Amino acid sequence: MISTRRSPRQLIEGEGTVDGIGTIAADLGNNAVVIADPVVAAQSGYARILASLDAAGVAVESFLDVEPEVPLELVDRAVAAARAAAPDLLIAVGGGSVIDLAKTVAAVLAHGGSPRDYYGENQLPGPVLPLIAVPTTAGTGSEATPVAVLSDPDRALKVGIASVHLVPAFSICDPQMTYGCPPSVTAFAGIDAVCHAVEAFTATVRPVGWREVIEGVSIGKNPVGDEHALTALQQLIPNLARAVEIGDDPHARAAVMRGATAAGIAFGHAGVGAPHALQYPIGAATKTPHGLGVGLLLPYALTANRPQIDPELTDLARCVGLEDDDAPDAFIAMTAELAERIGVPTNLRDIGVGHEQLRELAELASGVTRLLQNNRGDNTVDGLERVLEAAWAGDRRRLE
Ligand SMILES: NC(=O)c1ccc[n+]([C@@H]2O[C@H](COP(=O)([O-])OP(=O)(O)OC[C@H]3O[C@@H](n4cnc5c(N)ncnc54)[C@H](O)[C@@H]3O)[C@@H](O)[C@H]2O)c1
Ligand SMILES: [Fe+2]
Repeated sequence: MISTRRSPRQLIEGEGTVDGIGTIAADLGNNAVVIADPVVAAQSGYARILASLDAAGVAVESFLDVEPEVPLELVDRAVAAARAAAPDLLIAVGGGSVIDLAKTVAAVLAHGGSPRDYYGENQLPGPVLPLIAVPTTAGTGSEATPVAVLSDPDRALKVGIASVHLVPAFSICDPQMTYGCPPSVTAFAGIDAVCHAVEAFTATVRPVGWREVIEGVSIGKNPVGDEHALTALQQLIPNLARAVEIGDDPHARAAVMRGATAAGIAFGHAGVGAPHALQYPIGAATKTPHGLGVGLLLPYALTANRPQIDPELTDLARCVGLEDDDAPDAFIAMTAELAERIGVPTNLRDIGVGHEQLRELAELASGVTRLLQNNRGDNTVDGLERVLEAAWAGDRRRLE
């Protein structure tokens, strides 16, 4: 089997590493545009980043007018502001929304046109402006993935730009940047990372040729994805609840950040599956956060897939130290308990989904074929509706 390994040129980890950003940036140029989350920009970590850039002689223009979920008109504003500064490099300081915005700006500055020209897989003609990503939530893994997710008012569901050229040049994963992250953001971002790892590990094995290896953004279950998925879960499962409950616990924050990045690398090779495909229309209908939706759906999607993925679920159970006889069931139950403990609702009724909406949601999800090609379960509208029925009722046993 052919495998491939992609990641930023350097992925720098550890407490206080943001203080070195000036040295890295100066190697890439002397004129940077920093795109940052306005909440994060008020925190001490951001001041440290600016001080480091200043000490290294890097001129900075800041773009702080950022909103979550990356609406398309925000990209246009950010592109205009960045273009006026003619930067050598971009720096993103924030959660997935900010990093995805910066990736898209880096693409448009390098290749012109509109983000719409690059929707889908492999539509970017070549490398983008160098980007240094500094994540401040530990979850999306965007600091290591070849994906940017945007909201386009003309599309019912969120859209993605997926290209190997979008992997940031450098990422600085400093857990101190997440200490100010509120419990709910920590919880939803962290459970999203758990889903990335589990969905990558249980993905379909697909034949890959050289084109897919070089350019394919989700190539299905593969050894590099597996290795990072296992690492991710070993970090995330024992530490996520503590990071939510004790936000400045250094050990928990460091573990969750390492786990989220590893999970990003896992799905940045393998892709994700049914929970993500189902969350797209549910997120659009209920305006609930991405992580909340995928975390809610994961135990149901895994239960529905048990006939196809029991060996992988057994591996995952053993990897996190579960010794139960029915290892797949123990693993699914553990993901459900973790999600509930950190505040993820346990059923779709509680986030405002009406029973009469289930069919339409299943129909919309069935169109997310890029993700469903990774789902080993029943991808028909009926099959997806069955998962949603169980998730609506809050009863996994309906799928057994
Ligand atoms: N590119 C990828 O590979 C990828 C993967 C999964 C999800 N996503 C996308 O990422 C986005 C979600 O990103 P996210 O979950 O990181 O959240 P986010 O970037 O949308 O931020 C959520 C909220 O947390 C706040 N925040 C962020 N860091 C903080 C900190 N350190 N202290 C205090 N507040 C802080 C922000 O101000 C914001 O209000 C979605 O658009 C999702 O679709 C992208
Ligand atoms: Fe996700």
